[in-house]
Amino acid sequence: MTLTLAFDIYGTLIDTRGVETTLTGMVGSDAAAVSRTWRDKQLEYAFRRGLMGRYQPFSECTRQALDFALAFHQHSLQADQRQQLLDCYQHLPAFTDALPALHSLQAEGYQLWAFSNGQATAVDTLLVNAGLRDCFAGIVSVDDVHSFKPDPKVYAHFLARTNAEAATTWLVSSNPFDVIGARSAGWQAAWIQRSAAVVFDPWELAPSQTLSALTELAAALKR
Ligand code: 2OP
Repeated sequence: MTLTLAFDIYGTLIDTRGVETTLTGMVGSDAAAVSRTWRDKQLEYAFRRGLMGRYQPFSECTRQALDFALAFHQHSLQADQRQQLLDCYQHLPAFTDALPALHSLQAEGYQLWAFSNGQATAVDTLLVNAGLRDCFAGIVSVDDVHSFKPDPKVYAHFLARTNAEAATTWLVSSNPFDVIGARSAGWQAAWIQRSAAVVFDPWELAPSQTLSALTELAAALKR
């Protein structure tokens, strides 16, 4: 049976907390808190825009969420500093397990796809900079359908773009809302629980597999 593997990008392969080094130089000890608010608001804005039918690219959600996070934590930065932080989004680091996991899955013969809220050009640059781009057959972005995960439309779009079937497609994601979105669309989904402290939403849709690192995926797919 041929499986199609769709990898979430931000928070799964790529560590969004990579902004904290630059943030520390600007907001000091608030860096971790600002980073957390920034990421939470970025996703909230994507959810809300999807629901309201007021699509803007994910980069715009990211920009507006940064402005919110800075205001919320009472930091006022110059335009060039804010731009420097947004530029970090093109140079975020990969999690250390990403490259070895992708290589072992490639060696098993799986076709790997990047599947993201980010626009394809932004994801492409990010993956090149993180040294992961060559692992992927292609990038599927929600931007093609002007909505965001977990809108069922974006999971259907992925299947149409890659000529895949829901039952033999696996989403690999650290984001519970994304795993639930994929399961709701009839996919299999591996939840990468990077820390025991992260709680999965207690909904009626559970992950097909829960793993603590991407490097466990190749073995899990054989079970
Ligand atoms: C992504 O689509 C949800 O941020 C996550 O890459």
